[in-house]
Amino acid sequence: MNGPNPNNKTPMQGFPQVGYLKNFVTQKNIEIGDYTYYDDPEGPENFEQNVLYHFPFVGDKLIIGKFCAIAKDVKFIMNGANHKISGFSTYPFQIFGNGWEKVSPKKGDLPYKGDTIIGNDVWLGYKSTIMPGVKIGDGAIVASRSVVTKNVPAYSIVGGNPAKIIKFRFDEGTIKRLLTIAWWNWSARKITKNLKAIVNNDIEKLL
Ligand SMILES: CC(C)(COP(=O)(O)OP(=O)(O)OC[C@H]1O[C@@H](n2cnc3c(N)ncnc32)[C@H](O)[C@@H]1OP(=O)(O)O)[C@@H](O)C(=O)NCCC(=O)NCCS
Repeated sequence: MNGPNPNNKTPMQGFPQVGYLKNFVTQKNIEIGDYTYYDDPEGPENFEQNVLYHFPFVGDKLIIGKFCAIAKDVKFIMNGANHKISGFSTYPFQIFGNGWEKVSPKKGDLPYKGDTIIGNDVWLGYKSTIMPGVKIGDGAIVASRSVVTKNVPAYSIVGGNPAKIIKFRFDEGTIKRLLTIAWWNWSARKITKNLKAIVNNDIEKLL
């Protein structure tokens, strides 16, 4: 046996609230890696409702790697959320038309932070919020109820609003080696064979 089938929608026996997310996502501008799960007692199919202001015409993507654990009510605010802030009023007059469309912002008037990219083996805590364009490195942890406004380094733990680095999970040398090993790209067979080394913290054994 080489672990669960990543194409199984609800791989945890008796817990349909836990879903392998890639099997639920329908939007083209969201990409999810194998084994990444979303845990929501109201049903993992609700995930896309947590990706807010994600309009295809804006062009930004939400990209989440493999083996991420996403807790209930983690929200992703995408670039479509932004109003023009350089003028005196932030009110989006243009969306209501009837003569107000004459102030439609031009490309470049609205803040645009690019794609939101979550690495591999990232744990996003309950009710955390990820702001537009944030990049979260492999192995990072986002503490519950954090608001992540800036990029998060690999294997760091961040928390608070705005989220700040609480600590790094391992020393610099170990982190470099973990990023080189990138066990999440191994075959299911190799991962299964080396599972103990992956969940323990002896880098020599993993190497
Ligand atoms: C971040 C987390 C993993 C704790 O890690 P830890 O290493 O055990 O951290 P500690 O409890 O020792 O706290 C370390 C520091 O982080 C702070 N901290 C912990 N959780 C925090 C949070 N949610 N927001 C802000 N700061 C937080 C602590 O206050 C402490 O601060 P200090 O160093 O100034 O005293 C945990 O608090 C957390 O948020 N887990 C997510 C749980 C969750 O949402 N699960 C969903 C099911 S998958």
